Amino acid sequence: MLTETVSTTTTAEPAFEISNYQIRDDELPGFTDLEFEHINELHLDHPGANDPAYRERRDFIASLARGFRETGRITDVEYTPREQRVWRYVAEELEELQQKYASPFYLRAKKDLGIRTDRIPQLTEMNRRLKELTGFRLAPIEGLVETRGFLSWLSYRVMLCTQYIRHHSQPAYTPEPDIVHEAIGHIPMFTNPNFADFSQFIGHGARIASDRQLEELGRLYWFTVEFGLVEHEGDIKAYGAGLLSSFGEIEHAFSDKVERRPFDLEEVINHEFTYSDMQKILYVIPSYKDLKEQTRRYIESF
Ligand SMILES: [Fe+2]
Repeated sequence: MLTETVSTTTTAEPAFEISNYQIRDDELPGFTDLEFEHINELHLDHPGANDPAYRERRDFIASLARGFRETGRITDVEYTPREQRVWRYVAEELEELQQKYASPFYLRAKKDLGIRTDRIPQLTEMNRRLKELTGFRLAPIEGLVETRGFLSWLSYRVMLCTQYIRHHSQPAYTPEPDIVHEAIGHIPMFTNPNFADFSQFIGHGARIASDRQLEELGRLYWFTVEFGLVEHEGDIKAYGAGLLSSFGEIEHAFSDKVERRPFDLEEVINHEFTYSDMQKILYVIPSYKDLKEQTRRYIESF
């Protein structure tokens, strides 16, 4: 649990303070108690929707995640040669784009976690390194869950991750998170101490947010964790998972079709967006530390 210190002074101090520290194993709520109001099944517009073998495979890998919730143990997936080929194709193409556009921190972190283009990484191996670096951990999940349930787990420095991979007919596209989006998009950034703390603050916010505040948090998450840009030595680089894991999005983000504005938290939490559209405006943070501190102050105002 995070400590919640109720202010005893009469000045306009925040109602509580967030302490950032690593979560010990014995403080983690049992994964066996994990319950969600809603877990996404495969949608009809998914490229694999009419492929019974794909559906069966996705359901099998999803069942391993359900097994995790019963036992607390992660089962490694024995990926098939076809799944490995999908990974290799996407990972190699992305690697090339990322050399040009990705944040240098991200590029180093990907190497450090052993995320390579020639094989799909397992959550267990990435967990071992994450634990040493920031105490973050990955927990398997069957699919998208409701926003509050998903974000709340970040308060325990836990990221829920899918393990299955997109359909081979459209390797450049997936309408739902898959292991490419998680491992190439999200996971490397959790090795950054400031980004890990920032994620934890978002999680803490989700646990205490009103419905309106939760919507704001969803927008903050979208324009940072998914579509964030960061300043680097006078240049702009990508750190958002939605950019780093998509050929189309990353190139679009740096094209003249996008306005890249300095990050303004107040503006971001009020910026409505449509999930399925390419973004017209993106926000550039000065540093991960600045994002963390701005987010801390915002959550402390709840
Ligand atoms: Fe994502």
